[in-house]
Amino acid sequence: LNYNVNRERSYILQVLFNGLRRLEYRGYDSAGISIDHSSSDPKTSSLPPSLVFRQEGNIESLVKSVYQEVAETDLNLKQCFSHHAGIAHTRWATHGEPAPRNSHPQSSDPGNEFLVVHNGVITNYEALKGTLVRHGFTFQSETDTEVIPKLAKYVFDKAKEGEGDQTITFSQVVHEVMRHLEGAYALIFKSWHYPNELIACKRGSPLLLGVKELNENASNGSAFHDDNFLSKSGHPKELFLSSDANAVVEHTKKVLVIEDGEVVHLKDGHVSILKFDKEKHGGLSKVAAVQRALSILEMEVEQINKGNFEHYMQKEIHEQPESLTTTMRGRLLRGGSCKAKTVLLGGLKDHLKTIRRSRRIVFIGCGTSYNAALAARPILEELSGIPVTMEIASDLLDRQGPIYREDTAVFVSQSGETADTLSALEYASENGALCVGITNTVGSAIARNTHCGVHINAGAEIGVASTKAYTSQIVVMAMLALAIGGDTISNQARREAIIDGLFDLPNKVREVLKLDQVMKDLAKQLIAEQSLLVFGRGYNYASALEGALKVKEVALMHSEGILAGEMKHGPLALVDENLPTFVIATRDACFSKQQSVIQQLHARKGRLIVMCSKGDAASVCPAEWESCRVIEVPQLEDCLQPVVNIVPLQLLAYHLTVLRGFNVDQPRNLAKSVTTQ
Ligand code: G6P
Repeated sequence: LNYNVNRERSYILQVLFNGLRRLEYRGYDSAGISIDHSSSDPKTSSLPPSLVFRQEGNIESLVKSVYQEVAETDLNLKQCFSHHAGIAHTRWATHGEPAPRNSHPQSSDPGNEFLVVHNGVITNYEALKGTLVRHGFTFQSETDTEVIPKLAKYVFDKAKEGEGDQTITFSQVVHEVMRHLEGAYALIFKSWHYPNELIACKRGSPLLLGVKELNENASNGSAFHDDNFLSKSGHPKELFLSSDANAVVEHTKKVLVIEDGEVVHLKDGHVSILKFDKEKHGGLSKVAAVQRALSILEMEVEQINKGNFEHYMQKEIHEQPESLTTTMRGRLLRGGSCKAKTVLLGGLKDHLKTIRRSRRIVFIGCGTSYNAALAARPILEELSGIPVTMEIASDLLDRQGPIYREDTAVFVSQSGETADTLSALEYASENGALCVGITNTVGSAIARNTHCGVHINAGAEIGVASTKAYTSQIVVMAMLALAIGGDTISNQARREAIIDGLFDLPNKVREVLKLDQVMKDLAKQLIAEQSLLVFGRGYNYASALEGALKVKEVALMHSEGILAGEMKHGPLALVDENLPTFVIATRDACFSKQQSVIQQLHARKGRLIVMCSKGDAASVCPAEWESCRVIEVPQLEDCLQPVVNIVPLQLLAYHLTVLRGFNVDQPRNLAKSVTTQ
């Protein structure tokens, strides 16, 4: 951030803390910040020019400790806070437990000569650490990141030694450091040798530059040139670097998505970006100064606020009628009497023929995104006639599973940045498959690196447990099935029924959301349970997996989604009068099979909770089964039923979590975007 106008004294801290609050959903076990200080006051002048504050726990613990420490050290607030360049970080631990010493910024030495915040993982850090230790460096943390500032200091000191008075620029230091790093990273460097400068660079992890012109009337989408950017308009600027748009959108909508190999240099309101490519021998070769247009974020600040809700997860569950409407907007056509109903997916239109000729379609994703693809698999198989296989991204990579040129690989990811999914994309791309992206994040790595794709347009999702993105993903994949399936006479009636179902879907979701209190009451009954089994099959096998995942990840209750067809091959052994078993038995081709599952569970005295279609309560749970609980949901076209069926389970997980006293939006040990493998 570059701040060179006279505003409130604590402005820079407020901006950094707010930015961290916006990013907290990406990691929240510890946090840190660095700002400048150049006090000539003898009481404080012994402090290093770059102050670092680090704290275990959430952002608010950091905020508290910073203000406390500032007060205790009696810093001259004005001098401390009116300085120019600050960096901050919220962490999701990979190497080293959550603790102040492992939080970022990581430092080169006690004097904080070089400071670094890092998103990603440095895979060769052990070798680098060995070398640096041999050169006399001592390490304070267990992180992979600490090698980076130390390497920067080593490079800087070496250059000083060798070149006498000739100074090495900050960019040169960072280029030299990058040459030695392997793995994935987005980095921001700060050093008091280079006051008011920041350098950022990336390879593999996301990074975005936000540009706010103060007193601006500058036109949107104005061309971005390196060092004439300031002089072009002459306005002073605030510049923001962030892992995602959420931290930037309240300041500016003008952003530049930084690409792999680019090095961004901020100095006194100027920006320059250079692109470096890895040479074969491992060095970095300068390619060119980057010139491209700023993009305009489409998100609104309101999207990242909770509105009238207590939690993001609650808000996101309840806004599904609207998010689904946005997902479908402009993509479904219902013509007049003689016009066929049809689907338009602009991002795919040039590739549909190739997809139709594929030997198979492979869905690849992680977590909830994988479950969404599983929910859509049957309709894609039915309408396209192409075999569809499922791959969890990490498992595909572990097995180095076969991917062929004749395959269409569909990458499903809410964030578009999940490291496992990204690596699988690289792998599939190298193997020649046509790569299709389905993401919620415009400009994300998956959106950029696939050949074509569809944005789900669900709006920003902040709750770590994915809810509205899941339902929008299923809808996009149902539309994908319709688009690939084409207009054959034989499937026309089915296609039209699905399109009608899609039009009606937001209303059906609105209706099922009325079960909120019913699910809260059920949550009260289940609050002290150790475990919950969820049975589903066919279209709703995915609903069982996803419902169980929600309960597990936020309510911290063991829960398993089970393919009902497999019940008698093992899980039935667990069933007794104590263990709650949730059976999804809405109307579709599997209904009678689910009825017999219910009978078998009842025969073993199973504690039943059954989800069925409206009007089916008596047939799934006869009146004499007193302990059986029934949840009735509206019925719709079978392939869209998972969109409705997941909602009561989302509500159940939400209420269970609140009643059990856990953090709904930031479940223990998890993060929203897992950008490390
Ligand atoms: C993390 C999140 C999950 C999410 C998964 C995949 O594990 O906690 O909620 O489903 O990543 O994320 P993606 O952004 O690729 O959908």
